[in-house]
Amino acid sequence: MAARAHWTSRLGFILAAAGSAVGLGNIWKFPYMTGENGGGAFVLVYLLCVLGVGLPILIAEVYIGRESQRNVVQAFEALDRPRSPWMVTGWLGLVTAFLILSFYSVVGGWVLHFLSKALLGQLTSRDAAVGGYLEQLFHSPGAMVFWHTAFMALTVVIVARGVAGGIERANRIMMPALFLLLLFLVVRAFGMPGFAPAVTFLFSPRLEDLTWSAGLQAAGQAFFSLSLGMGAMITYGSYLKQGESIPRITAVVAVMDTVVSLLAGVVVFSVVFTFGQEPAAGPTLMFVNLPLLFQQMTGGYLVAVAFFLLIAFAALTSAISLLEVVVAYADEVHGWPRPRTALLMGAAIYALGVLAALSFNVLGDVKVAGHNFFDLFDDVSSNLTLPLGGVLIAVFYGWVLGRDAVLRTFDGRGPRVLREGLLWAVRVLAPAAVAYLLVKGLAGLWA
Ligand code: TRP
Repeated sequence: MAARAHWTSRLGFILAAAGSAVGLGNIWKFPYMTGENGGGAFVLVYLLCVLGVGLPILIAEVYIGRESQRNVVQAFEALDRPRSPWMVTGWLGLVTAFLILSFYSVVGGWVLHFLSKALLGQLTSRDAAVGGYLEQLFHSPGAMVFWHTAFMALTVVIVARGVAGGIERANRIMMPALFLLLLFLVVRAFGMPGFAPAVTFLFSPRLEDLTWSAGLQAAGQAFFSLSLGMGAMITYGSYLKQGESIPRITAVVAVMDTVVSLLAGVVVFSVVFTFGQEPAAGPTLMFVNLPLLFQQMTGGYLVAVAFFLLIAFAALTSAISLLEVVVAYADEVHGWPRPRTALLMGAAIYALGVLAALSFNVLGDVKVAGHNFFDLFDDVSSNLTLPLGGVLIAVFYGWVLGRDAVLRTFDGRGPRVLREGLLWAVRVLAPAAVAYLLVKGLAGLWA
């Protein structure tokens, strides 16, 4: 067997893992969820969830990857025993990668579509009927499939080129670009009258806004945003060499992911408040409400291009990590050459995605348990397979590998209170919180 691929440096891992974490979840979902849940209180609970639930599971995944140096399925055999029942966690991860990437690529396609409109000036020309673009896209099966194809093709091409030469290189270009674009947008937002109200909205919690439902959404979002529960971080961790401090590098990744969400929130709400709009517009915020405002601002062309380019990079670096989970497995277990595996697996996921894309139009009447394909893939992964995977990973790390693993994660260094805190979080807090998400999610699926 060929020597296992590795990142070329610590920074390579950090950028790739942050690339996986920073995605549509940060720039599209986080602002609209915060808007729907009253702002500051939601942000506060979100931060607590990242710290108490997200970071511990992130550490668990990266540890499982680095220690085993294997793909999601064999990692559990390597750390437990051959044919360990914990392999189920890996299988579940593969299924989840298929489900998430299929609809993620469809939404990535919408982003490319809007990026092309922004570049052509069609988001900012005076008489453009911008508010209707998303609906128009939904009613055009050809365009939906075309942009989904483009997005998936980019993903496959990058993964086909390998860990260091494809994934790491792409992230080394796209992640710094993403941060620069975000910085440009934040500076631009700073000059807007809506900036101060946006900061107040996000950072001064009104405790009366704290609800169970907001807490539940915050926990789910923290989990999704850090790409947890399906082995993306196990896979990326498996390309780490021994000797890196896992607590430190995972903390950097979690901070980057969280900072991007918060800054995206600042940008989005500065615009929203400058034009006296409603913060609680929901999922259409990014594709309908904001583009309408680019039309009204001076220099809106650049802002629109920067905004959609930012989201395109974010989506693409996440999609890469989803495909890599499947490709790493197929590569190592069946020994297929990587370009062929990337193409084959990409094509299979692409086919599922076509079903999701067409569920907005020609397949609109096809329902599985009351869901169209797009919602089915989204709901089954977010509410069932992801949280289930998360609980299994936390329990495997906290109870099966146990105290020894946690000590090894810290390499015998670090303050005792952090080690004990992590042990308690992965044994009790994180599994309990994620199991609660799972129960609630299942109740919702069947409702
Ligand atoms: N974290 C990604 C985002 O915020 C989405 C995501 C969830 C993901 N689970 C994942 C990405 C697993 C890669 C792998 O958009």
